[in-house]
Amino acid sequence: MNESINAGPAVGDVAAAKAAVEDAAGRVQTARRDFLKLFGYGSAGLMLGGLSIGEDGLPGLIPEAAAAAGKSPYEKAFGFDPGLLYMNIGTTGSSPTQVVKNANQDYKAIAGNPTAYFFGQQAMRNTIAQGFGCDPYELVLSFNTTDGLWRIVMGIPFAPGDELITTNMEEDAGISVYNMLAERFGVVIKTVNIPTNDAYSDAEVLARFKAQYTEKTKAILFSSPIYLTGARLPAKRLCKWAARKGIISIVDGAHLPGMVALDLHDMGCDFFSGSGHKWQCGPGQTGFMYIRNGFDPSPQVLQRPTSDYAPFGVPSPMVDIPVPGYTNTNPLPTYYATNTLIYGAAGILANGVRDPNHNIAAVLQLIGNGSRPSQNALVECCQLWDAWGRQAIEDYVVALAQYLRSRIVDHWGFDALSIPYAGFADASARTGLTSFNPFSPGFDYNADLTAAQSSAQSAASAAAVAQLKTDHQIVIRNNSVPHALRSNPTQNAAPGTFSAPLRISTHLFHSPADVDRVIDALLMVVPHP
Ligand SMILES: Cc1ncc(COP(=O)(O)O)c(C=O)c1O
Repeated sequence: MNESINAGPAVGDVAAAKAAVEDAAGRVQTARRDFLKLFGYGSAGLMLGGLSIGEDGLPGLIPEAAAAAGKSPYEKAFGFDPGLLYMNIGTTGSSPTQVVKNANQDYKAIAGNPTAYFFGQQAMRNTIAQGFGCDPYELVLSFNTTDGLWRIVMGIPFAPGDELITTNMEEDAGISVYNMLAERFGVVIKTVNIPTNDAYSDAEVLARFKAQYTEKTKAILFSSPIYLTGARLPAKRLCKWAARKGIISIVDGAHLPGMVALDLHDMGCDFFSGSGHKWQCGPGQTGFMYIRNGFDPSPQVLQRPTSDYAPFGVPSPMVDIPVPGYTNTNPLPTYYATNTLIYGAAGILANGVRDPNHNIAAVLQLIGNGSRPSQNALVECCQLWDAWGRQAIEDYVVALAQYLRSRIVDHWGFDALSIPYAGFADASARTGLTSFNPFSPGFDYNADLTAAQSSAQSAASAAAVAQLKTDHQIVIRNNSVPHALRSNPTQNAAPGTFSAPLRISTHLFHSPADVDRVIDALLMVVPHP
């Protein structure tokens, strides 16, 4: 164990981590009041579909007193089955009760009076783009992260011999797209090993990407956070480095929307794909695809149309949308639409040509009939998050996860965690995904495993996940992880010797009491010192 890197609250200093959660819960109420002031909403001011609106015009949270008593401020907005403790948001989330109700009504209304719903998304994109720090022209409602990633890479003209730098910890969606690029277009895939436990630091990750660079590097593709370990990679630093080198950056940010306060212009990526159905808690088969469509470093207030027909010459009322400046000021990469009903209409994306004045999302969005109830429900979730305050949500989610990690450290030690508990790399790497390994020798995430130990661990880990569900009504998951090796932290476990840690998602509807419940159950189900 490297105590200097893992330095922070002493082992057992759980109280400080818990106090941080209470503090973050308190700030939620402030964020709500700030939103109210900023947007000037009065008691009848905010109409979010049929959402139950509080007296101050915002969707309700539980009272401050209840938050102080250890409940999640957001708890009452969700409708989980009684007794169920669902902690696998990393796979898929749960929609707020009111959103579910409205979506059902919407679906019923469509059945009663069927309508084609090719259109309507311009207004939706106008509503949600600000929450993600981008322009509605560059945000597309996709089906999910996988869908967005495929539409991104298939639109970039890769040539044989082009090199793509990625990581050894991509999810199947990322693995699939880079394998296809290799097989179909002869792209050479260069892989960075992601470090774990005390080997992890932002600087190390950056250095490993840089080490893979050659003059043939065309793009980097990485997920952040890493779904196996929960580590949030230094996305802005990676994208800035890529931009300086003239490399295209593609981010698989499946877990970011709804978990953190995203500012895509600030992150500086060229392309981003994320889930609507995970931490953003929208319905299944919803997601966000972002394609950088500008390079002005100054923030601006842009006039955007409210009608979907506007890009094609039909007059439309306009709205003002404030957008942050771009950190990536490179020219726009050539990009072809992969599926659209209106290829090249009004010259937009014709032959891959880019122009920041073009409403590319209007062309990319129009792929035939979609699901109006799903898209409306996703937008409603985004409105709720905006109203509750995305930074307040991130602060709460990360503080709660850090409380969970403090309790893990208390029982299993620093070495059991996927990233340093504290220290120089930690704060920026923290997310609501916690990965820890109670099965390895010495409770060491980075333990070198034999093939036999690896396969026994995989079985033990799967059994623990199953037992938590059947005996305790707690849903978490496990993963198969090519962790860094204690014997040589520059190397990661070879196939056949991967570890099988547990992954726990803590989200806005959870509370410190839920964290205590999962720890109590784990102590009954998995090995501990
Ligand atoms: C990093 C990462 N990318 C992509 C996906 C696929 O997400 P979706 O279901 O939105 O396609 C996941 C799902 O777990 C993931 O963790």
